[in-house]
Amino acid sequence: MKKTYLPLLLILLMVFFESCLTTVDREKPSDVEYMDVSFQGQVLPIFENNCVRCHGSYGGLNVTSYDSLMLSIGNKWQDNIIVAGDAESSGLYDVLTETPQFGIPRMPLDGPYLSADDRKIIQVWLDEGALNN
Ligand code: HEC
Repeated sequence: MKKTYLPLLLILLMVFFESCLTTVDREKPSDVEYMDVSFQGQVLPIFENNCVRCHGSYGGLNVTSYDSLMLSIGNKWQDNIIVAGDAESSGLYDVLTETPQFGIPRMPLDGPYLSADDRKIIQVWLDEGALNN
């Protein structure tokens, strides 16, 4: 009885190791479709890992919490840093794209840039209304 599982186990092991060898292309989003993105669970951790060290205390963009983010006013983007329901019009999303449109360099300023999946999460969160969820 036990023997019949052995080939299956071997195949599973092969698949597992194969997936470890495949290099991840960070510029292309995975096939995952994001919906009902959570600010606390998904968006805030991205900011904490990539942005807070520069955007944590000064008066411009402050990404340490939902409230501080909503109160953020930029120099160039002014109060269009976050346009709820419209990622394309939001400065917060523009600066994450490969070619920002309004003269502010791509963020994080010193790199490494966000993965395509992380950018997608922020884009969907903005498009879904930039909720505190
Ligand atoms: C190494 C420091 C650094 C990191 C890390 C960084 N930024 Fe910035 N960011 C800056 C500086 C400096 C500016 C001002 C650039 C300018 O005006 O030319 C700026 C400007 C911005 C602006 C425009 C604000 C305005 O005044 O209109 C946005 C939006 C922004 N950053 C978002 C982010 C996000 C989101 C992250 C994380 C993914 C991030 N930044 C990471 C240094 C940083």
